[in-house]
Amino acid sequence: MIPTLEWTPEGVSFLDQTKLPHEETYILATDYKQVATVIRDMIVRGAMAIGVSGAMGVALGIERSTATDLATLSAEVAEICEHLAATRPTAVNLFWGIAQVRDLYNELAAKSTPIPKIKQAVVALALRLYDEDIANCKQLGANGADLLPQEGTVLTHCNAGALAACGYGSALGVIRAAIERGHKIDVFADETRPYLQGARLTAWELMKDNIPTTVLCDNMSGHLMSKGRIQAVIVGADRIAANGDTANKIGTYSVSILAREHGIPFYVAAPFNTIDPNTATGAGIPIEQRDRREVTHSNGKQMTPDGVGIENPAFDVTPAKYIAAIITERGVLRAPFTESIAAMAAQH
Ligand code: MRU
Repeated sequence: MIPTLEWTPEGVSFLDQTKLPHEETYILATDYKQVATVIRDMIVRGAMAIGVSGAMGVALGIERSTATDLATLSAEVAEICEHLAATRPTAVNLFWGIAQVRDLYNELAAKSTPIPKIKQAVVALALRLYDEDIANCKQLGANGADLLPQEGTVLTHCNAGALAACGYGSALGVIRAAIERGHKIDVFADETRPYLQGARLTAWELMKDNIPTTVLCDNMSGHLMSKGRIQAVIVGADRIAANGDTANKIGTYSVSILAREHGIPFYVAAPFNTIDPNTATGAGIPIEQRDRREVTHSNGKQMTPDGVGIENPAFDVTPAKYIAAIITERGVLRAPFTESIAAMAAQH
């Protein structure tokens, strides 16, 4: 299994995704501020991975605290959560992961639980969220596998794989599950400018699993769809609004329209905690703007004239109307999504 992140006695260990595919190196975060830096600098990235990283960051902050009374520790916990939440704005999983540990802390502190017991409990929760993330990926993979063609080529955008989670992945989890069931699937991986998650990360992890993979520049899929070379599209999600509008890596929206034009099903695969009931539509999803240098430079070399204007939104929103189904660990959601999401939420 690809060790995207791992809780260790020394701290949280992260596979440095900025170095892939050339180097497999690890970074150890020994305090919560280092976890925040690892998330902000995209050493770990992908909604599910940063959700669990956020949870582990809070647990690490609490575990390493030298506070001797609950009032002091509670003030520290508020600061830890705020610091971790300020790293990346779009993926709701980050806020979910932080909230899971914070809520447990608040519950135990309200009962005046001894600090050593609180420390044990928050670490145990972070470890459980890690295991659940992998189990969710496997279950959503199983739920979505038969939506993919028995034989054909599936396009994905960005990296929604083991590297974007604690293992197995969401969109790539569905592909893995389909292949495990005997589907003959080739993958087209959009390179995903400007950060190249597709070219660097999706290609790397699929090649490791011997899944036939071809990298496309981001502007090639329309042509290949028009030639009948793509049978389905599957992507992950960073935040799904209550009406099904889905934020994912920049470029996803354009792919969804191309898929609609060519009558190709466009699937979103994500754990249920990616659905944000507090965001009514995609218009309310905050879109992270990243540094201009990601666009102006490649491999440290400037590719654009000095002073030119640059846009670098890291995500876009695919309207629900372009989505054939949202595949979650609880089941497969279909339009109308406002109703199907609400019904699935009510069942738990
Ligand atoms: O900026 P990133 O690399 O964190 O963006 C990741 C994506 O957009 C993924 O497609 C998304 O998180 C879904 S996979 C959990």
